[in-house]
Amino acid sequence: MRFALKGLWTLVICVVSIPVLAQEQIIPITTAENAMVLKVDQQKNLSILYYGRKLGNNNEYALIPQAYKQTSDYTEVADAAYTASGSRNLLEPAITVTHADGNNSLDLRYVQHEQKDLGSGVSQLSILLKDPVYHFQVTLFYKSYFKQDVIEQWAVIRHAEKSNVTLHKYASANLHIKAKSFWLTQYHGDWAKEMQSETSRLTHGIKTLDSKLGTRANLFQPSVFMVSLDQPATEDEGTVLYGALEYSGNFKTDLELDYQNNLRIISGINSYASAYTLKPNEDFVTPGFLYTLSHEGKGSASRKLQDWARNFKVLDGKKDRLTLLNNWEATYFDFDESKLKELIKDTRKLGVDLFLLDDGWFANKYPRNGDVAGLGDWEPNKKKLPNGIGTLVKEAANNQVKFGIWIEPEMINPKSELYEQHPDWVVKQPQRAEHYFRNQLVLDLSNPKVQDFVFKVVDDLFTQNGELAYIKWDCNAVIYNAHSAYLKNQSHFYIEYMRGLYNVLKRIRSKYPTVPMMLCSGGGGRVDYGALEYFTEFWPSDNTDPLERIFMQWEYSYFYPAITSANHVTDWGKQPIKFRTDVAMMGKLGFDIVVKHLSEKDLQYCQNAIKQYNSFKDIVWFGKQYRLANPTEGDIASMAYINEEKSKGVIFNYLVNNRYGTGSIYPVRLKGLEPTARYKITEICLYPGTKTSIDESQTYSGEFLMTIGFNPVVHAQRTSVVLNIEKI
Ligand code: GLA
Repeated sequence: MRFALKGLWTLVICVVSIPVLAQEQIIPITTAENAMVLKVDQQKNLSILYYGRKLGNNNEYALIPQAYKQTSDYTEVADAAYTASGSRNLLEPAITVTHADGNNSLDLRYVQHEQKDLGSGVSQLSILLKDPVYHFQVTLFYKSYFKQDVIEQWAVIRHAEKSNVTLHKYASANLHIKAKSFWLTQYHGDWAKEMQSETSRLTHGIKTLDSKLGTRANLFQPSVFMVSLDQPATEDEGTVLYGALEYSGNFKTDLELDYQNNLRIISGINSYASAYTLKPNEDFVTPGFLYTLSHEGKGSASRKLQDWARNFKVLDGKKDRLTLLNNWEATYFDFDESKLKELIKDTRKLGVDLFLLDDGWFANKYPRNGDVAGLGDWEPNKKKLPNGIGTLVKEAANNQVKFGIWIEPEMINPKSELYEQHPDWVVKQPQRAEHYFRNQLVLDLSNPKVQDFVFKVVDDLFTQNGELAYIKWDCNAVIYNAHSAYLKNQSHFYIEYMRGLYNVLKRIRSKYPTVPMMLCSGGGGRVDYGALEYFTEFWPSDNTDPLERIFMQWEYSYFYPAITSANHVTDWGKQPIKFRTDVAMMGKLGFDIVVKHLSEKDLQYCQNAIKQYNSFKDIVWFGKQYRLANPTEGDIASMAYINEEKSKGVIFNYLVNNRYGTGSIYPVRLKGLEPTARYKITEICLYPGTKTSIDESQTYSGEFLMTIGFNPVVHAQRTSVVLNIEKI
């Protein structure tokens, strides 16, 4: 008993008193339509008071809590802006630590905040939180983009304790949202099956979206998601939040419907096998978590995000792109210099801007004649290319096209000279059998020597081939047997790998700031806004069957602008060349076909289509995208791109159901036009020898087209119809 009393006494004298604030403080982050309102209470807890449509009068935000009669928050931190664990918290934390003295508790209280105007409608709020007991702090950053209603949020964690602190969890963001019900749209996939969507009502407890794959992290699941509030949002109605982690490695997003019926979203690097030892005065900077909120359905949310991506995130998001001919499916590994020279001539004949040489051009001791050998040995194969790459670059220039090349510099085949020379550069367990993904392993990018090597692969290509104009950067393997021969602390491996990758990409971009690069990962295994800062476009999927692509590109388009989607015409699928080309034009057009196998009319179609594409590509890339007919809901798909001025647009329409009598029975309602203006609609990209079935002499008001609609006349004999709409 005496002991217990003594214990209590010790506790009392050790409690640190926190000076209270005279009154609550409200910190609103406002964008065009929304407000994320933070509150500092008198005990200096920082919470999320509100996230939703903004109010005209900032003083009224303080009245919001009294309008809700939910059960009690016993902890005072259920709505924390960044939930610390080990003190009062009872729900999923954003951060979990073990202090230098072995103690596991953390409590974060507001100290100060700073708001900066960064220009171009961008502001940045930073809020410093400190533990009253330990020398431990977290600074929360909110970068808000006014016009686009987008917020990027991240945290910087730091301490000044006597020795190292272990971070067990270190989220980027922690949201707290109120609604009557929450509907999650999430994505899953596999090779050739990217972006399969599922929508379900969130039930109490935690729903986790995550990846532990290390590289090719999106293979089974990307970090992008949507949450509709109160009811599932449609294209034009309902409140919907879009979220994504800007990170290319392991991620984890927990969506917790808590006991009070509020939704808590905590997203960040997946701390799986990644406890991080933070030295005193070292900054741990989390990646950004990105979100936007729309009250006019999914269409408006995606137009905001696409606009944001082009203006602020994707490399050269507002600049031109190159159309191309790729040789992957035309030759696979079976080519030589003369075959490639023919393909370069075909590039010119087709009328695209660039020839892209894919996998198979390198390695000598273990030639890259299949995916079983050679990866890592980046010298041109002497048998296939006796005169190196340079002669092909010249041949391209002689044909007035540009030249690009495929690399996969993060990866290695065990059958390679690189493996023989540097087995310690390979990610593998020292005492366990190797396990391969596509016959390959991953290089240890946490090792600065490996970073130098990867940088040099790219740098050598440019220094040796001055006119090299494009890179396709692939990443086919996931990480098995995660272990680095270089790192002392294996728990840092996944994080240091990504730091290494971003270091290399930064170095490449500081030397080669504008060269277009395609982000590929055996398809869409690595599509995220962390990587798109360094890349101009991504490869959505190896599945280029145009019917499949209509669905896949549709889903990608919720989160990514068309300019970033590399769509190639290939021989996948049973559709005619017109259908295949039209689908590929809804993004950044490319071809991966044997041009000389095309019939005369098919070739003529492609050549004309490329010319037409060049005349409207600016609208597809930079205009506003409107989803008109959802292929998952009916027999046709219809997608429109309209320019900012609402004076010109292009509308793609497809038959997606082959059953008898299917087609565009009803008119398709257009969107994004000026109601009072008059428009003319013509059919473009007609197959040689065919005539349009629409009446091109008629003109229509924007009001008519948006209220009644227009029938593209899609049916079994007209499975793909491209329309041009112009204000008169
Ligand atoms: C991956 C890519 C393909 C192609 C091959 C080459 O699968 O997704 O486009 O580049 O690698 O091996």
